[in-house]
Amino acid sequence: MRAAVLIERGQPLVMEDLALDNPGPNEVLIRVAATGVCHSDLHMAEGSFPAPLPCVLGHETAGIVEAVGSQVRGLKVGDHVVTCVSGFCGHCQDCLTGHLSICQDKGTDRPRGSQARMSRPDGQRVHQIGGLSGFAEMMLVQERTCVAINRDMPLDVASVIGCAVTTGYGAVVHTAAIRPGSTIAVLGCGGVGLMIVNAALIAGASRIIAIDQVPAKLAMAQTMGATDVIHAAGIDVVEAVRELTGGGVHYSFEAIGLKPTVEQSFRMLRHGGTATVVGVAPVGTSFNIGAMDLLMERKLQGSYMGSNQFPIDMPRLVELYLQGRLKLDELVSRRIGLAEINTAFDEMKAGNGAVARSVICFG
Ligand SMILES: NC(=O)c1ccc[n+]([C@@H]2O[C@H](COP(=O)([O-])OP(=O)(O)OC[C@H]3O[C@@H](n4cnc5c(N)ncnc54)[C@H](O)[C@@H]3O)[C@@H](O)[C@H]2O)c1
Ligand SMILES: [Zn+2]
Ligand SMILES: [Zn+2]
Repeated sequence: MRAAVLIERGQPLVMEDLALDNPGPNEVLIRVAATGVCHSDLHMAEGSFPAPLPCVLGHETAGIVEAVGSQVRGLKVGDHVVTCVSGFCGHCQDCLTGHLSICQDKGTDRPRGSQARMSRPDGQRVHQIGGLSGFAEMMLVQERTCVAINRDMPLDVASVIGCAVTTGYGAVVHTAAIRPGSTIAVLGCGGVGLMIVNAALIAGASRIIAIDQVPAKLAMAQTMGATDVIHAAGIDVVEAVRELTGGGVHYSFEAIGLKPTVEQSFRMLRHGGTATVVGVAPVGTSFNIGAMDLLMERKLQGSYMGSNQFPIDMPRLVELYLQGRLKLDELVSRRIGLAEINTAFDEMKAGNGAVARSVICFG
């Protein structure tokens, strides 16, 4: 099967033919229909976030089950599925208290020393990331990294539920659990930030301030539900938010992954407000938080994959789309072939204003 392989950090992905093993007892073989291109893939391709090499990136995937292992009960051949990079074990204290996304005992990769799921013709192991490898025609995964969805859902649109939607929607509804009527600001209006805007609309925010340095992204944010926009170029963004809201927002969300914007997200809070950091800053980054800002009961928290319970969340997100409440057609702004993955990365780096999310569609 064809796959785009990351061989060396900072270098383009290379198209290769790889072999897949047969499904183990708890594994599922998926024919990939579509995979969205997330900035976290780019972080790993560039090396700002570690990844084992060689590997196949891609974690925002929808596809069709082609085969299942002998002990798989929850999925069957022909099911339409969406994947999630935060697989879970189902029996640790985090899982049993409902915090599936921070399970530390995921078991989504095969045990060390066992036969590789994916390999080159010479037998060399090719790694997955978080147990997934969506930049490929087929994907062999552990059963608790995917969930079956309504077959009425178009698979190209379903793919973005795998990460951007689950992450953005979950940051608003699960991690921050915003209150209806509250004011929010979103720093960064890429795939994830746009879904934060859309989720805030669904969750009843009274004011949704979208902030980005690319004007076209601000126009997209308005389509998703932003009530105000701030073009982050040559202005003090924190002051602008304070002015618009008379002192700061109840909730801010950082969806970029940069030190200055994380610090801005904290400073733009009103007293008692909560900043939720979704963006992934380079490993080793730390943030300066003012003592006086903190004293006034402001809170700073991380959010991993929207604090999801994805087997429940994803089918619900599909329903919200089918009812017309979740704006995914607007998010999937470009459909490309697998061979165009490096161009999609280049556009993401350059901040191409025309693209909210590129989705790789497999024929
Ligand atoms: N926490 C999680 O579980 C999780 C999950 C998925 C993605 N992420 C992270 O979320 C971040 C966003 O991902 P994405 O796929 O939406 O990325 P993206 O590249 O599509 O969007 C980033 C947006 O930020 C804007 N931007 C960049 N620098 C800016 C600045 N200084 N001021 C204002 N706007 C600026 C860009 O114009 C772009 O619109 C990434 O860091 C990604 O790794 C985290
Ligand atoms: Zn992602
Ligand atoms: Zn667990």
